[in-house]
Amino acid sequence: MAKVQSKKDIDILEQRGLWEASSFLHRRIKKLIGKKQSLRIGDLKTAHKIMFDVSGQADIAGKYRRHNGPELRRIDGTPLPITDWRQIPAVMSELDFVLREETRNLKLPKNERDYRKVIFLAVRLSHRLACIHPFVNGNGRASRLLLNAILIRAGLPEISIKKSKPAYLKAMRQTDDGNFDLLENIVTDGLLEAKKKHIEIIARKKPELSKSRKKKKKRRLHRR
Ligand SMILES: Nc1ncnc2c1ncn2[C@@H]1O[C@H](COP(=O)(O)OP(=O)(O)OP(=O)(O)O)[C@@H](O)[C@H]1O
Ligand SMILES: [Mg+2]
Repeated sequence: MAKVQSKKDIDILEQRGLWEASSFLHRRIKKLIGKKQSLRIGDLKTAHKIMFDVSGQADIAGKYRRHNGPELRRIDGTPLPITDWRQIPAVMSELDFVLREETRNLKLPKNERDYRKVIFLAVRLSHRLACIHPFVNGNGRASRLLLNAILIRAGLPEISIKKSKPAYLKAMRQTDDGNFDLLENIVTDGLLEAKKKHIEIIARKKPELSKSRKKKKKRRLHRR
């Protein structure tokens, strides 16, 4: 008889599923950048499939919702209005069109204006996906995977959004009313944090030269 899985077992498997979905997107986007191709909603559906196949929930993996309930609540307790399930395929293909158009020529930002453009795109499409809520479960994770996928497609590092942080849900709530500021700030802070970590890693990789090696290096430079 199959062993009944505890909530803790499922959480661990879902964590692994999320990691594998994220790795898949990294590999996929590397290829897309090489070929100068755009991101597609199909890539995200595959990531969702991986995430839930790994955690033994093949029935919902990579599949759109076929019902509307139960009602979802925002952080302030108000109902979260999501897309009627019958509209999901059409609305998702509109999102796919925008995603493909906007990510085809995405390049590494060079100035503040470019950065703002990429961050706004990532935040706008990620929030849109969360409001469509196309899957039975894992919509928050899918919308954060999409946010990171857009950043990575633009050559930027991925960021970590601790969804449990009330700040993120507060920012999503503000975005519902058309104000993207808080969510954009969260992404900007995440990028700065990722850059700081990157610099720390590089610094760690460069060990101090020993005194004798320093002397040798100095002599070599003098000879030139
Ligand atoms: N005000 C809001 N506007 C838009 N989306 C919201 C809002 N509040 C919550 N959400 C989204 O709904 C998600 C919860 O839906 P769901 O349970 O399908 O996702 P999940 O991935 O299982 O959850 P979690 O993000 O907690 O792992 C949140 O993570 C968030 O992204
Ligand atoms: Mg959930």
